[in-house]
Amino acid sequence: MWRGPPDDACSTAVADPSDTAPGEDPEMSTNTDPPADRGSRDDDLHRLSMTILMTPDMSNFAGNVHGGLLLKYLDQVAYTCATRWARTYAVTLSVDQVVFREPVHVGELVTFQASVNRTGRTSMEIGVRVTTQDLVSQVVRHTNSCYFTMVAIGPDRRPVEVPPWQPRTAEERRRHEAAGRRRELRREIERATTEIRAATEH
Ligand SMILES: CC(C)(COP(=O)(O)OP(=O)(O)OC[C@H]1O[C@@H](n2cnc3c(N)ncnc32)[C@H](O)[C@@H]1OP(=O)(O)O)[C@@H](O)C(=O)NCCC(=O)NCCS
Repeated sequence: MWRGPPDDACSTAVADPSDTAPGEDPEMSTNTDPPADRGSRDDDLHRLSMTILMTPDMSNFAGNVHGGLLLKYLDQVAYTCATRWARTYAVTLSVDQVVFREPVHVGELVTFQASVNRTGRTSMEIGVRVTTQDLVSQVVRHTNSCYFTMVAIGPDRRPVEVPPWQPRTAEERRRHEAAGRRRELRREIERATTEIRAATEH
C-alpha cells in the first residue's frame, strides 16, 4: 500500500535539475513549470539530473567513452529517479531505445536528465535524456534518450504499489500520453517476439 506522497528531498549524488541544457527535447523537458511553482510541488521528486565528467579511464578502444559505462550511468539515474519517487527499492524490468546516435568524447561533461513519465500500479516509466557539453567550445549535443521500466519492490521482494504520478503541465501530459503509447508498443513487441520465437524454435 502506498504510504503517501514524499515529503522531503533525499540527498544523493544526483542534483535536482533547476537548469536545463539548451536544445532540450520536450520528452525529457525539466523546465516547463512556471518559476513560482518550482520547489513547491510535492511531486517535484519525479525528476532529477546527474552530471559527470568523462575522464580518460572511461574510454573504449576507439578512444571514445565506453558504451557499457554509459549504460551503467543510465541505469543508475533511472534507479535513483524511480526509487526516490516510489520511496522503496526499484528494479529494472526493461530499457528501450538505447541508441547511441553519436559518440561521447573523453573530456566532455555528460548530463543525464531523468523523469517519471508515467506510473502504473507497481511500475514506472523513467525517461532519461543524455546531453554532452564540450567544455572548451561549450557546444551541447543531445546524444540519446531512452526509457526504463522500473518496478517498485517491497521487503518481500514482490512488486508494491507506487505513488501515482499525475501530469500537471501541458508538457507533462504530453510525456504521460507518449509513455502510454510506448507501453502499448512494448506489449505489441512482446507479442510479436513470442510469435517469432515460436516460429523459429524447433
Ligand atoms: C520486476 C519483477 C519483480 C516483476 O515480477 P512479476 O512477477 O512480473 O510482477 P507483476 O506481474 O506483478 O508485474 C509487475 C509490474 O511489471 C509489469 N510487467 C511485468 N512483466 C512485464 C513485461 N514483460 N512487459 C511489460 N511490463 C511487465 C506489470 O505490468 C506490472 O506493472 P503494473 O503494476 O504497473 O501494471 C520480476 O520480473 C523481476 O524480479 N525481474 C528481475 C529484475 C532485476 O533483477 N533487474 C535487474 C537486472 S539483473
